Amino acid sequence: RRGSALCLREFRVSSSIKSSGQVSYELRGDVAVMTVSNAPVNALSLAIRQDLVARIKQFEEDEAAKVAVIVGEGKVFIAGADIREFKRPATEPHLPDVIDGIEACTKPVIAAIHGVALGGGLEVALGCHFRVGVKGAKVGLPEVHLGIIPGAGGTQRLPRLAGYEKALEMIPSGAPIGADAAKAAGILDDVSDEADAVAAGLAFARSVIDNGTPLRRCSELVAPAVDAQVFADAKAAVAKRARGQKSPVVCVEAIEVASQTSFADGMAKEREMFMELKNSAQHRALAHAFFADRALGKLPEIEGIAPRTLKSIGVIGGGTMGAGIATGALMNGLSVTLIERDDEALGRAKATIAKNVGGAVKKGKLSAEQEQRIFDKALSLSTDYASLSEVDLVVEAVFEDIDVKKQVFEKLDAVCKEGAVLATNTSYLDVNAIAAVTKRPQDVIGLHFFSPAHIMKLLEVVVADKTAPDVIATGFQLGKIMRKIAVRAGVCDGFIGNRILATYRAAADAIVVDGSTPFEVDDVMLEFGFPMGPYAVADLAGLDIGWATRKRKAPTRDPRERYFTFADRMCEQGWFGQKTSKGYYVYEDGARKGTPNPAVLDILTEERKEKQINAQNLSKEQILDRYMAAMVNEAAKVVEEGIALRPLDVDMTLIYGYGFPRWRGGPMQYADEIGLEKILSNIKAYAEEDGYFWQPAKLLEELVASGRSFADLNAESGNNSAAKK
Ligand code: 3HC
Ligand code: NAI
Repeated sequence: RRGSALCLREFRVSSSIKSSGQVSYELRGDVAVMTVSNAPVNALSLAIRQDLVARIKQFEEDEAAKVAVIVGEGKVFIAGADIREFKRPATEPHLPDVIDGIEACTKPVIAAIHGVALGGGLEVALGCHFRVGVKGAKVGLPEVHLGIIPGAGGTQRLPRLAGYEKALEMIPSGAPIGADAAKAAGILDDVSDEADAVAAGLAFARSVIDNGTPLRRCSELVAPAVDAQVFADAKAAVAKRARGQKSPVVCVEAIEVASQTSFADGMAKEREMFMELKNSAQHRALAHAFFADRALGKLPEIEGIAPRTLKSIGVIGGGTMGAGIATGALMNGLSVTLIERDDEALGRAKATIAKNVGGAVKKGKLSAEQEQRIFDKALSLSTDYASLSEVDLVVEAVFEDIDVKKQVFEKLDAVCKEGAVLATNTSYLDVNAIAAVTKRPQDVIGLHFFSPAHIMKLLEVVVADKTAPDVIATGFQLGKIMRKIAVRAGVCDGFIGNRILATYRAAADAIVVDGSTPFEVDDVMLEFGFPMGPYAVADLAGLDIGWATRKRKAPTRDPRERYFTFADRMCEQGWFGQKTSKGYYVYEDGARKGTPNPAVLDILTEERKEKQINAQNLSKEQILDRYMAAMVNEAAKVVEEGIALRPLDVDMTLIYGYGFPRWRGGPMQYADEIGLEKILSNIKAYAEEDGYFWQPAKLLEELVASGRSFADLNAESGNNSAAKK
């Protein structure tokens, strides 16, 4: 199979990461310009830190230089510490010391910012005596997204410079702010009209020299005092949003420290908090997610391959998915021709799109003019497939029925122009079988969006046997245009996400029939960090969908499979979840959050009686272990078969499509943290009860036998810079 994990070594890169970059020093009249060069984002690698120390010393000793300006080469000022170095022991000079050295300078040092100054980059700027930004520059402390806090003075200098409220707004959220807002907050001393940072820095330097502006060190500033309650309130609000992620709360605590102690003590405390988080599983998970995000589209099969033209698309079917896909495409500037079976269905589809677009306008995501353009120009509605003759790509989103899909693709084959990409949004059906009814299987691909399609981030790009590389590249391009996270998947029942989902849902059903309640399972998964438990999700999606699938699959079910009837019995009562106000939970008066439906427990008791099952009371930990073992085992099979190219593709699928907490890094990263040996031994123990369901993945066994991890597999793919050694 293409891309099987066992062949990943083909892509192995042998180069090890060297600390790179340099800081140049150039005298422009009486101003020393220090340029940080470490492409692509001027991360503060060891070499850069060493050079900065040397250049600051040179500046101090340079009698011809009155002021220094620090700038970044290329598209940004400095994007922060070099995250790749976090895996290794910290090496001197440490960034806080480098920055202290800048601040201690006896002559003025100015940061001239363009692009972004993020994390350690902003901390360097805060260590300078003045900061000037060019238009469009952004500053921020996004460390929280990596499961850490700013660790080079950001939590101590920013509140002193901009006040506690601003620091509490910026640091726990990690959100950057624009140059004008930064000036208003006192973070930038000026926003320059100069086109580039060097010119902006030189102009500012001239005014400092001419005016004899005294040095201003953030560490010596005193922020206006605030009530301690401000921190207590911030901590409560942040903890609620963070749902188990530690760093946002620690950010608040670190800022609070600034209000309580001297700068030096605050720096020591910040370092301690930073180091503790830097050594945590949450940081490892979030750093993994950072690099995995960037590795998703880096696929050997499309390297250097240009996508096909993508300006107009067709959408077939204007139901739940079709209307959502059309909305997402329209909101991102594509033209859409939507095909339905009759005018009435077209009217419904248009109303849904109008509601979605209207919602986006209300939220400020779209302007009224853009809304107008969509309905005047960009959206066409038709019942005639011939209207698709000129579109660049079609997404089919009709009923999940292979015969209906085949008919649609025969029609598309007849009307679409040569080179048009023909995509199906099927959830489970065989994309190869769909491609085979056309004379152009090379142009056929799966584009599996998630509901609601204009909101959910994930897009599985399902590559069939004959899909051409530029069609795959076009799938990724569509994802980019529609601001989705696109993951490459292979063809199988359910692709990456739904296939793994089916397995862990089956494990949950077994846990429930064997003695736990659906509410306990949901609670455990909520506590783990999922936004909803599997049974609350089932109620939301509609229990009738799973029921229909089970009926469809009944004739081919393996007799060795344990079959549970409680969900069918619920459906027989007409309990389809939220849409009927009753499912696993009861939803009074249209409430979206339900209370446990006690009748479900009676149905379960009956099933246990019939099957002579002695209810066993699993602990929370046991529930979690089983649920996760099922998820990881199926995920390993998905990688082993090449359905997912790398473990990181599974991780991102589960994070963006299924609510897996990002701060746990996805199931494969989680498994690495727990230890693959433990997961495998759990699976083997469960197999003694149900050997059909719990068949260990070969890949898992192979990794355990060779003492490797999923992270090693990612590294062997050569596309995850975090994992490179
Ligand atoms: N360290 C190491 N590598 C980094 C990096 C960093 N801080 N920031 C980005 N990169 C790498 C990316 O992995 C990517 O590598 P690749 O080409 O091999 O995939 C490359 O730089 C380009 O990055 P993007 O694809 O993200 O480029 P964009 O132009 O889309 O975005 C950016 C640029 C806005 C700077 C974005 O990369 C970003 O947000 N970077 C991270 C910023 C950050 O989190 N900084 C805080 C670091 S922690 C810190 O500073 C701790 C301190 O407080 C002690
Ligand atoms: P839906 O039933 O809401 O919409 C299907 C629409 O297709 C209907 O409006 C119907 O009139 C139209 N249609 C049927 N045959 C047609 C034809 N020959 N020509 C033009 N229009 C036709 O179904 P939904 O939920 O939107 O699902 C569509 C597809 O998306 C299915 O393949 C489904 O598996 C997949 N999908 C569904 C998700 C979901 O959460 N609902 C998530 C991801 C994929």
